[in-house]
Amino acid sequence: MADDMRSPKDAILLSPPDLDPDDAGYVQDAISSNWIAPVGPDLDAFEQEIASATGVGDVCALSSGTAAIHLGLKLLGVKPGDRVLCSSLTFVASANPIRYCGAEPVFIDADPHTWCMSLPALERTLEKMSQEQRLPRACVAVSLYGQSADLPKICELCRNYGVKILDEAAEALGATHQGRMAGTFGDLGVYSFNGNKIITTSGGGALVSNDLQLIEKARFMATQARDDSSIGAYEHSTAGYNYRMSNLLAALGRGQLRRLDDRIAKRRFIYERYERELSEVGPVQWMPEASYGRATRWMSCCLVENQSIRDKAVHHLNERRIEARPVWKPLHRQPLFQSTQYERHQTETDVSAMLFERGLCLPSGSGLTAGQQTRVIEALREVLA
Ligand SMILES: Cc1ncc(COP(=O)(O)O)c(C=O)c1O
Repeated sequence: MADDMRSPKDAILLSPPDLDPDDAGYVQDAISSNWIAPVGPDLDAFEQEIASATGVGDVCALSSGTAAIHLGLKLLGVKPGDRVLCSSLTFVASANPIRYCGAEPVFIDADPHTWCMSLPALERTLEKMSQEQRLPRACVAVSLYGQSADLPKICELCRNYGVKILDEAAEALGATHQGRMAGTFGDLGVYSFNGNKIITTSGGGALVSNDLQLIEKARFMATQARDDSSIGAYEHSTAGYNYRMSNLLAALGRGQLRRLDDRIAKRRFIYERYERELSEVGPVQWMPEASYGRATRWMSCCLVENQSIRDKAVHHLNERRIEARPVWKPLHRQPLFQSTQYERHQTETDVSAMLFERGLCLPSGSGLTAGQQTRVIEALREVLA
């Protein structure tokens, strides 16, 4: 149902792009200058602007967040047969690139207070793997729905065992942990600028790091790994990728990035109104904001009493042309990853499975009008009362 919602004019979507009239000017200037290939002044400027907005050393803009995860894992040395830890409660794109590398994911449960990677489950897994003398090569730590994972602790645990960290903040540009941006803690960080993200380049992503050499290598690998040649010949000694972001899309990203603070404020405002106006309609629990940071509330998410009420709510909203979805189905529950190892938060508690069963994602786009949000709230009241 949610997938059929794109055409009706009055449909309310989960997180549609929010373009500003100025954005078109940026794209038009790029077209007029003829810099439309994956090279050019807007690409350079977008990278610098992301670096200064996030406080990271350097940025390599890429064609998607998925490409950034794939290239990031490659740069962290992930090879066929390696193990790679990954949050289970996330979109499949966090883990697919592990398989592209020929490695095996091992999924880690979520913490009930943050919905991001569980520290006890991570610690137990690292201890076990160390005893088996088969430590993972890397850990994909996801900052979910605009909330930073507890990255300093995740990094400390992983570094104790020599495990590299891919700080997967595809959904969390602008989220902070004690004032520092999610995405900037790991050996490499990832952002996505897909159409549904807090800012968009239509499709796009970035790898970020304070290790300038790693980002230089990312640029090299993302442009077919072409070796230096004094006469400009095409010479290659490594298999690279065509993963660079187009200058045209980077121009759109520059327009969008100027509004990041405004987009965060709008999404937080939308979340706060849901919380305020739905707090008396039966037992609804909201995705907690971690005590250590500030979430962007990229997605407004809540838990209802049980799966049957959640399903009823999705159905009821969809019938009223309001897109709503369950929280991500955990990856350890996906047919794709059927026999994959998984570590729970506590032996008896599968937190990510519970969050999936009871979790509901509500329309959260920064362009959502007050009237549209009233429609969502009224429809939810009908079903939850
Ligand atoms: C958690 C997460 N990781 C990775 C991605 C992949 O990003 P992209 O769509 O830019 O490839 C997304 C979103 O699309 C995401 O939500």
